[in-house]
Amino acid sequence: MGRLIIVSNRTPGKGPAAGGLAVALRKVLTEHEGFWFGWSGKLVEKPEPEAVFEDIEGLNVGKIDLTQHDHHAYYAGFSNSILWPSFHLRLDLATIEGHWYEGYRRVNAQFARALKPHIQADDVIWVHDYHLIPLATELRNLGARNRMGFYLHIPFPTVDALYAIPHHNELMRDLSRYDLVGMQAERDVTAFRDFADHQAPATLSGSPLRTVDFSNTEVKAFPIGSDPDAFAKLATTPAATKMVKRMQRLLEEQALILGVDRLDYSKGLPQRVEAYEKLLANNANFRRQVHLLQVAPPSRDSIKEYQETSDTLDAMVGRVMGHFAEPDWQPLTYVKRAYGQPSLAGLYRLARVGLVTPLRDGMNLVAHEFVACQDPEDPGVLVLSRFAGAAEIFEDALLVNPFDTDETAEALRLALQMPLDERRTRWETLMQAAKTHSVDNWAKHFLEQLTPADGGNKRPPVRDVLNLDTVA
Ligand code: F6P
Repeated sequence: MGRLIIVSNRTPGKGPAAGGLAVALRKVLTEHEGFWFGWSGKLVEKPEPEAVFEDIEGLNVGKIDLTQHDHHAYYAGFSNSILWPSFHLRLDLATIEGHWYEGYRRVNAQFARALKPHIQADDVIWVHDYHLIPLATELRNLGARNRMGFYLHIPFPTVDALYAIPHHNELMRDLSRYDLVGMQAERDVTAFRDFADHQAPATLSGSPLRTVDFSNTEVKAFPIGSDPDAFAKLATTPAATKMVKRMQRLLEEQALILGVDRLDYSKGLPQRVEAYEKLLANNANFRRQVHLLQVAPPSRDSIKEYQETSDTLDAMVGRVMGHFAEPDWQPLTYVKRAYGQPSLAGLYRLARVGLVTPLRDGMNLVAHEFVACQDPEDPGVLVLSRFAGAAEIFEDALLVNPFDTDETAEALRLALQMPLDERRTRWETLMQAAKTHSVDNWAKHFLEQLTPADGGNKRPPVRDVLNLDTVA
């Protein structure tokens, strides 16, 4: 395999990498020659056309700046107010502003122009996530014939939700310009096939749409994971243990129920608090015996729907506190801030229940990290949404429908009362699955598929590909 070029909206920064993905991709890049490419995080009036390369702790990272106007249309607009809600089946929360699409494409074209001069003939390009769907088209328009892979970190939408996205056909054609498209779960591949096999036959004007030819694109599930061995070690380091001890002093005998999520409407946080409220309402014996800690760092807070979710949650947390708190007992703690991995590892280890109940989620790495951090002698229980990609591999979690707060409350009760033997048996299977689906294996499998021994096909430039498209 030639050099590896990883492209993502955000680029790794200095200091410890924030997420498992950054750690893993950093590891992959240390095993291959190559570089990481993406947005610098800076907004300027007139971005330089050339990327600036920087050594970040041994990693070669190429970055470009964006204008505020383009960034808004590309990131807060098309990516996070149209693609994100639609892919998560929340069309009610989508805001469709047509001009955002132009900004989205402009930024993708800007990425391609800045990246192309640094690409060599044998380089393999791995593009990450929904911000950059058109990148392969833009690169191929500039003549790149390299092997290109795309990985979608969020769920793929159902056909109806996809059709609600402006320019969805162009986006699907963009996907067809990759050699390999990786999805989180089998359900995503099924949704994709549903689109590919039954493409919309006509536009509003009645004229037929050109169907997208996916014959040169392989689409497969590559469920991402964490680094379970690293998390298991982290959970017993002095930094993690310090957090455990501080919390133990506060909690005394109370069982900790833990949620850790970006403050995002897809995470089902109001439903989660409601389920906890029902647990306390229906089981008076749990009062003073349990404590919910919800860690929710704010995210994308320039977007109205995110502010509204935050307000809703504030109100719900206030309601539960007002209803159940006593001068000497609080039912929950809600912290709107991010914590480092060592502190989180300590919290995961201490928790009797990991409550991971997104309404829809690509994978959910918190579920993986929670499992990895458990004490094998006295493990906690994972309560997991059946709508997280993780549910496909963590069958021994207590799977719940997060919209059904009675069911989640009941799963919480079962988890809190689960005998040690059952907790151990379930955890062993979960940990085995976390290891099988480690982030190292994920990257290895994806790259093996993207770079077959014979080097794979070289794509013709885009104008030739267009001629191959059939008319429905
Ligand atoms: O998981 C999807 C994702 O968009 C990732 O690409 C990203 O790292 C994460 O959510 C956080 O989102 P943002 O970059 O918008 O803060």
